[in-house]
Amino acid sequence: MNVLVTGGAGYIGSHTCVELLDKGLGVVVVDNFCNSSKESVKRVERITGKQVKLYGGDIRDKALLDKIFNENKIDWVIHFAGLKAVGESCAKPIEYYDNNLNGTLVLLQAMRENDCKKLVFSSSATVYGAPEILPLTEECRTGGTTNPYGTSKYFQEIMLTDVYKADNEWTVVLLRYFNPVGAHESGLIGEDPKGIPNNLTPYIAKVAIGELKEVGVFGNDYPTPDGTGVRDYIHVVDLAKGHVCAIQKTVNSGVYTYNLGTGIGCSVLDVIHAFEKACGHKIAYSIKPRRAGDIAECYADASKAKRELGWEAKLNIDDMCSSLWNWQTKNPNGYKG
Ligand code: NAD
Ligand code: UFG
Repeated sequence: MNVLVTGGAGYIGSHTCVELLDKGLGVVVVDNFCNSSKESVKRVERITGKQVKLYGGDIRDKALLDKIFNENKIDWVIHFAGLKAVGESCAKPIEYYDNNLNGTLVLLQAMRENDCKKLVFSSSATVYGAPEILPLTEECRTGGTTNPYGTSKYFQEIMLTDVYKADNEWTVVLLRYFNPVGAHESGLIGEDPKGIPNNLTPYIAKVAIGELKEVGVFGNDYPTPDGTGVRDYIHVVDLAKGHVCAIQKTVNSGVYTYNLGTGIGCSVLDVIHAFEKACGHKIAYSIKPRRAGDIAECYADASKAKRELGWEAKLNIDDMCSSLWNWQTKNPNGYKG
């Protein structure tokens, strides 16, 4: 079985390629490297001892997608390619809607024309907006997103559902990720953010290694146990395995939605303390005002994925921090060496 992985050179995509190859599946990657490099794909090959067929280019290039489908027999597509920075999406909504919505539309056209109608989509807990109840189940209301990135995920879920409604031959699996963190145990692949990280764990890692001075904790007056924001952090390797389960366990056409999280909420201070254990020294931090658009708490009810896909997260916050520290110390400049 062959899987086309769009955005397969990126953070979650590269980890998913490892899990797919380890299970003996063929992997074809298309990536324009706007937020990644070819080096991650080379490292995936090093970890697995297997080859990835790599196409450099944009998923909005229909001719390229047709060429890929012509040259390879693709059974499933796992669609990671997209832009993902919340703050940047507010400044560049046109670029975000073009890349994320137009990219998905061109991919769907190419899939339909080439008679490949099985797709796993990278969605996000962000589609729930401010949670009505916790833990979040797949039945919770979606929408009410507060930035173009989140809205693009919400729109893409609707687009994909409509495609199935019009043609019941499609199989669409919407995976709503909570907060993916950590790195592969080899320390060869991991998250390589450009510039100063926006997300908590890469920021902490840069403070731990001495590149940044201190972690700003965005608010300690939330209605949470220690006042700081609570999230459901999930190890990227567990998340990657969830994609393999999705394609192995989904046999009938339809639209299937799964939360991929641990079900456990960790506060910002919990994460800082877990990272201190991992790196063996104190992490400097100071309390800052709340970040605009942040919610107090967000964590998953991930029981549906366990029931239907036989998948559950196995790794905990200590595993996430130690694997990130391993990646950070082995690759202080990311893939640039
Ligand atoms: P990433 O930026 O590391 O990976 C995305 C990859 O897609 C990159 O390699 C990039 O170069 C590529 N890409 C972007 N636009 C493209 C285009 N038009 N054509 C071809 N390639 C293109 O991000 P990630 O963290 O691995 O996220 C993967 C997916 O998961 C994204 O869709 C993201 O929105 C979603 N997601 C991520 C998170 C998270 O916190 N990391 C949470 C929820 C959902
Ligand atoms: N935080 C800090 N300091 C920082 C960065 C973050 O205190 O320097 C706090 C935030 O306020 C929040 C928590 O750490 O309470 C996590 O923040 P992140 O930026 O790491 O992650 P978010 O939960 O804001 O969002 C992430 C992705 C989104 C995705 C969402 C759900 O960035 O794209 O998880 O999957 F939609």
